[in-house]
Amino acid sequence: MNPQMAPSRKGESEPRRASARPAVELAIDGRTVSVPEGTTILGACRGIGIEIPTLCYLETLRPVNVCRLCMVEVDGSRVLVPSCSRPVEAGMKVHTGTERVRHTRKLVLELLASSVDLSTTPGIDALLQEYGCRPERFGPRAAAADAGVRDGAVAGHHEPPDPRTAATVAQPVKVDNDLYVRDYGKCILCYKCVEACGPDHQNTFAIAVAGRGFEARISTEMAVTLPDSACVYCGNCIAVCPTGALMVRSEFDMRAAGTWDEARQTKTDTICPYCGVGCTLTLHVQDGQIVKASSPLANDITRGNLCIKGRFGWRFVQPRERDGRAREGDACA
Ligand code: SF4
Ligand code: SF4
Ligand code: FES
Repeated sequence: MNPQMAPSRKGESEPRRASARPAVELAIDGRTVSVPEGTTILGACRGIGIEIPTLCYLETLRPVNVCRLCMVEVDGSRVLVPSCSRPVEAGMKVHTGTERVRHTRKLVLELLASSVDLSTTPGIDALLQEYGCRPERFGPRAAAADAGVRDGAVAGHHEPPDPRTAATVAQPVKVDNDLYVRDYGKCILCYKCVEACGPDHQNTFAIAVAGRGFEARISTEMAVTLPDSACVYCGNCIAVCPTGALMVRSEFDMRAAGTWDEARQTKTDTICPYCGVGCTLTLHVQDGQIVKASSPLANDITRGNLCIKGRFGWRFVQPRERDGRAREGDACA
């Protein structure tokens, strides 16, 4: 976990005890703004109600600047600047909605939408519309790769691309355990899961980025199955994934059956009963059944994280005759 960052009430990344820092004055879209030193441009923008789209940014993770969706223009800077990680400077003049900014965001979104299944990415349709994206201009999507092909790609060994189709990361879903699935056809390579599994939260390092260029992908060590990897099934990677590429098995199965319906779900915060840490659990309930457990980001104890018991050990609550997989889930509880 990054010790310097803490979620604020507005969900921004701000340094701890930010109010004790000297103020920095800058201009954002012509408005003079004063924020504590160390505030990111993104945080300063959100503080005055300017929304900037992000994909790889999360207030509980160290910024890795890989999606390039949050770019803004700064006077005197030759290149666009990632607002999620760049701290403000005195006298800075930031422009968040210029033609150049909108053009680059549009291209990022189009490239993602042409190559990745974004069907479970919250809010993406509105963004594609807002920026006038036409991902179809890159041509029809290429056929999905067979299972294991992308996992076996060797850096430097490239097949020439087919100019008639848009390259994609489409591939079969990895279903190799009872707790969660990995659908890397939906992966935008935002690194959030790697950060959460590694240095920012879990320090398990079960997953990392393998390969280069378009063949880069999230992988376990030697691409082994999850049960054969170092994964401890905390599910903290699932909690930060912005696209649904990582999904709890219960949600995956219900979506496949056409029964997953967030409009019919309630969320109730409670305390995990498994140990004395007392993590806050958010129980997602649909039709009288718990369908998922998560934990709020804005919580100083969990910061959205749980262990296997909190994340998955709730199936014992369900009536067994109505949940055929309850007995499997019991094994982890
Ligand atoms: S479940 Fe936890 S240990 Fe396993 S890959 Fe995800 S973050 Fe890492
Ligand atoms: S699996 Fe999800 S969190 Fe991980 S890199 Fe892909 S999109 Fe990001
Ligand atoms: S949100 Fe800033 S680079 Fe991804």
